[in-house]
Amino acid sequence: MTTTRRTGQLDYTPQVAEATAHVYEKISDLVPEAEWRLQAPLIHEILRLKQEIGAVVLAHNYQVPQIFYGIADFQGDSLGLAQAATEVDEETIVFCGVHFMAETAKILSPQKRVLIPNLDAGCSLSESITVDDVRLLKERYPGVPVVTYVNTPAAIKAESDICCTSANAKAVVESLGVNRVIFLPDEYLASNVQKETDVEVIAWKGRCIVHEQFTVEELRAYREQFPGLVILAHPECSPEVCGEADFVGSTTAMVNYVDRSDAQRVLLVTECSMSDNVQEAHPDKELVRPCTLCPHMKMITLENTLASLRYGRYEVDVPPDVRERAHLALARMLEIGRDD
Ligand code: 13P
Ligand code: SF4
Repeated sequence: MTTTRRTGQLDYTPQVAEATAHVYEKISDLVPEAEWRLQAPLIHEILRLKQEIGAVVLAHNYQVPQIFYGIADFQGDSLGLAQAATEVDEETIVFCGVHFMAETAKILSPQKRVLIPNLDAGCSLSESITVDDVRLLKERYPGVPVVTYVNTPAAIKAESDICCTSANAKAVVESLGVNRVIFLPDEYLASNVQKETDVEVIAWKGRCIVHEQFTVEELRAYREQFPGLVILAHPECSPEVCGEADFVGSTTAMVNYVDRSDAQRVLLVTECSMSDNVQEAHPDKELVRPCTLCPHMKMITLENTLASLRYGRYEVDVPPDVRERAHLALARMLEIGRDD
């Protein structure tokens, strides 16, 4: 039986229960009913406001299932969401991801209003390098092109020749037809690319605070405990951890791998909400789910997404001169597309 309960200004009415039942059906294994009664009215109101305003929600694979399955129009990795930002018709994009992703959407679609529900949703890689650092590197290695991971602020992209994501890093490096590149800012992604190419990769020292935590010993312990385990790792993990994995790829490449393979027991060596989302899509498989949260991704909630739609906050903007130069680097990357 459905009852009514107060949740601030929004009620869990029979209409809300009915309108959101398809979402709860998908995520009920993860969300207790008591919690759902508080969240369903938020989801219902977000869906209503999206329509009223003409907004679209883009959500990264690391968003919690309530956002990923409940309110997102597009879900994906950094590359997929960057592509989606150029293709959507709606005037407003609400970005359920971190700041560099929303900024990328704004650079690629400057005519649209891009909102991020929490301006503090950053990224340790994005914070690991400054414009002065990039200029010093360019002085030190004159004429060597700069390949920049999208996990960077617009001003760093503007100093770069081309951007890449985890879905095309090697292809981007090799597209330049040179024998040396400066690759910023992820030290581990750079090492993982270096293992696969003859191009010399000059790296920076940035790290992802989530992926740097995984160790080879931990992965071996999981293999021992879970016979038949298939391990998929994100290339922001150390080269040793990636060497221990059965597959290495972007978050979407990992999702595709699980979709297409008959692996029954899977460990995703990445942020853990993604494992929840993949588990929901594959109830027949066993996702081993150690919890390694990205604190930045978790700054996006149903509550602040609703406030974002209601009050038009927080609008992401990029100064025109920075935008134009950053756009060149991103457009070159989009021409190469996906390579995983
Ligand atoms: P993807 O582009 O593979 O989704 O990775 C983004 C990210 O931030 C990984 O930590
Ligand atoms: Fe940045 Fe790592 Fe979080 Fe991805 S998981 S947004 S790289 S801190």
